Amino acid sequence: MSIQSELQSTIADLVVKGKGILAADESHPTIAKRFKEINVESTEQNRLDYRELMLTTPGLGEFISGVILFEETLGQTTAEGKSMLQIATEQGVVPGIKVDKGTVPLLNASGDMITEGLDGLADRLANYKEKGARFAKWREVYTISAHNPTQLGMDTNAEVLARYAAVCQSLGMVPIVEPEVLLDGDHTIARCFEVTEAVQHTVFHALHKHRVQLEYMVLKPSMVVPGKDFPSAAGAEEIAEKTLTQLYRSVPGAVPGINFLSGGQTPEEATQNLNFINAMADNAPWLLSFSFARALQEPVLQAWQGRPENIAVAQKALYKRAKLNSAACLGSYTVEMEKE
Ligand code: 13P
Repeated sequence: MSIQSELQSTIADLVVKGKGILAADESHPTIAKRFKEINVESTEQNRLDYRELMLTTPGLGEFISGVILFEETLGQTTAEGKSMLQIATEQGVVPGIKVDKGTVPLLNASGDMITEGLDGLADRLANYKEKGARFAKWREVYTISAHNPTQLGMDTNAEVLARYAAVCQSLGMVPIVEPEVLLDGDHTIARCFEVTEAVQHTVFHALHKHRVQLEYMVLKPSMVVPGKDFPSAAGAEEIAEKTLTQLYRSVPGAVPGINFLSGGQTPEEATQNLNFINAMADNAPWLLSFSFARALQEPVLQAWQGRPENIAVAQKALYKRAKLNSAACLGSYTVEMEKE
């Protein structure tokens, strides 16, 4: 298959109306933090058991088109001798891989961060592809303060995202481009709007400069919301309206899919916000979906508690969250559905 048709067929399998992406790509420190909340030790076996539980959820493929895995998971096999990639593929779920190596402070741009991992990326990607991964994910983060993100921070982060995306496409792997504007802070929703618009503008400018084909990428943005320490919360309608306005201003119609991250919203908030976004987005050129980690996994972790006897209930919890988010992709979610 040519590179072009590989990209095309991955987009066709990944960007599907009513389906979203399960992010299960927590780095070792992050998964340890999530496990600690349920008093489970982060051992290699526990990480495998937990991710196997999620991927073997009966019917997962009805609502989930893709899964983002962490590097360790690619090399793991279950007790039955199956690789996690095989399991995903059997479920009709496209396997992908997080390829960034996390963030460090960006020098001379106080308060801004930059993501590492470009060196040797092509070799790593070729190796992941050989194992069966068909898309990749890379996350840049932006903190909001009175002075952040700086112009240097936005330009440098955008440049890195574009270079990553270009390498992915050159190897026939679809890049998920994730510029995450963080929820931390006491800023207003208007400030989040302003920052998110500026961030995405620089990202698409860099993607254009690096000749990234927008038709073969997925954008994974944060929603436009007030800071988590801002005194009053915003309603789903306002979040949806501001998020859509910002996206219309910044994201070219050639991009096939926009899959939001949940960023610390509760599962119910994230679903409700996604639902309002879709209900208002009548003629949007892109599919608007989810690529949640926490908002899909929180109820799963709570149900599992690290105990094998809880696997079936934990899988039901994942199935339910995926189903509700699928409804939100169609704008047909209602709060009453939470009780079903
Ligand atoms: P959250 O949905 O928890 O913000 O995670 C998204 C993410 O970037 C993981 O790929």
